[in-house]
Amino acid sequence: MSEKTNEKDSDLMEKIVSLCKRRGFVFQGSEIYGGLAGTWDYGPYGAELAHNIKELWWKHFVTEQENIFGISTPTLVPEAVWKASGHLSGFSDPMIECKKCHHRFRADHLEDKKKCPDCGGELGGEKAFNLMFPVGVGSSGDGVAYLRGEIAPGMFLNFKNVIDSMHPDLPFGLAQIGKAYRNEIAPRDFLFRVREFDLMEFEYFIREADWEKYFEYWRGEMWKWIERVGINKDMVHELEVSKEDRAFYSKRTIDFEFDYPFGKKELYGLAYRTDHDLKSHSAGSGVDLTFFDEETKDRFFPHVVEPSFGNGRTMLAVLVSAYKEDMMGDESRVYLAFNPKIAPVKIAVFPLLKNKPELVEKAREIYKQLKKEFGAVVFDDNGNIGKRYRRQDEIGTPWCVTVDFETIEKDAGVTMRDRDSGKQKRMQLPEIISFIKSQFS
Ligand code: GAP
Repeated sequence: MSEKTNEKDSDLMEKIVSLCKRRGFVFQGSEIYGGLAGTWDYGPYGAELAHNIKELWWKHFVTEQENIFGISTPTLVPEAVWKASGHLSGFSDPMIECKKCHHRFRADHLEDKKKCPDCGGELGGEKAFNLMFPVGVGSSGDGVAYLRGEIAPGMFLNFKNVIDSMHPDLPFGLAQIGKAYRNEIAPRDFLFRVREFDLMEFEYFIREADWEKYFEYWRGEMWKWIERVGINKDMVHELEVSKEDRAFYSKRTIDFEFDYPFGKKELYGLAYRTDHDLKSHSAGSGVDLTFFDEETKDRFFPHVVEPSFGNGRTMLAVLVSAYKEDMMGDESRVYLAFNPKIAPVKIAVFPLLKNKPELVEKAREIYKQLKKEFGAVVFDDNGNIGKRYRRQDEIGTPWCVTVDFETIEKDAGVTMRDRDSGKQKRMQLPEIISFIKSQFS
């Protein structure tokens, strides 16, 4: 069996986008109306994949941690919050417009800032373009709010509520997963740069003196996550972000960059936000957001370390890491070597032949049992068995279970096929159940 490496395949992006559409992972947003740039719809397998990544992230960074609390806050946030946090003045990208065709570009993405890459016309001067989406709220529409550009403010706005209701000591974290919206000047590269996306992140509240210790700790946990979710860690590289390129609120940022087929670009961020946010929201709201240390009797603004993860970029990095082509016998195949924990379908159950009722009946019985145990199990009796295996390989199903004549005639169990090796093993059902359970523990 020969395997091509991902990095050398220049058509890889096209192949992934096409597989995602063909097999029900990702479609253009509002496609039948011509599409809306920077939005993507997730089909049945895409929705499942995104959900499984979120669930694993929550496990890794919330439920398996001792002192991180999960919260969930609205995407509609009033203007006063963004004024206080600095987003209204500082959450922008540099933009350049062509004087001739009026196309707009991210200035920092242009090599030649004088000549339009689309029509060759003269480019205008650089301007700061704010990425926030304003919305009118209420029947008159004059209550001004913004769709959140980041989800972090939800954590800062609830700092006092959580202190008062949960009484945590420092350090502790507040985490959430939810939509963020950015009016990107030039959305591009599939799920990489979009206008609406799910963020998974937490604010870790600490004493100022401890910031370097926790920055290092979460840096290590981010690497563990990268491995756990199934991103090829050889394709991830850290970048120390320079002062000029850091977000306005950060004193230190490390970007975790990934080798996407279109270049090495940001996957995740780790930022030291100092006490910028709690201080700003204290001043903006008039509510005291300091922490009172019962032992030392000190009152102070905690500092914050923030690991931040885009769900869509995780999906893309997982797809790129998992996409494989090889030869099986004399046939080529495509498969997605997903970590079983995030695979949209865990097991597919087949009767060897569709026109043998005894095989179909037994396969349906096994399908029901496995579905009860593992949830994401499918039944397929359509087409020849080789085609059914290929269909499951292409969506990354780790195991296929086939009921054949030996199952019925000799009570010899079923065959279980492993996606990556293509090898089959005859096993009894209880053995299969305990093997698969062991893969999820
Ligand atoms: N609270 C910190 C924050 O929002 P960020 O670097 O602006 O930091 C965090 O965004 C993460 O969100 C990024 O590392 C990336 O994974 C994802 N992300 C940012 N902008 C995105 C976009 N336009 N489309 C898709 N994902 C995006």
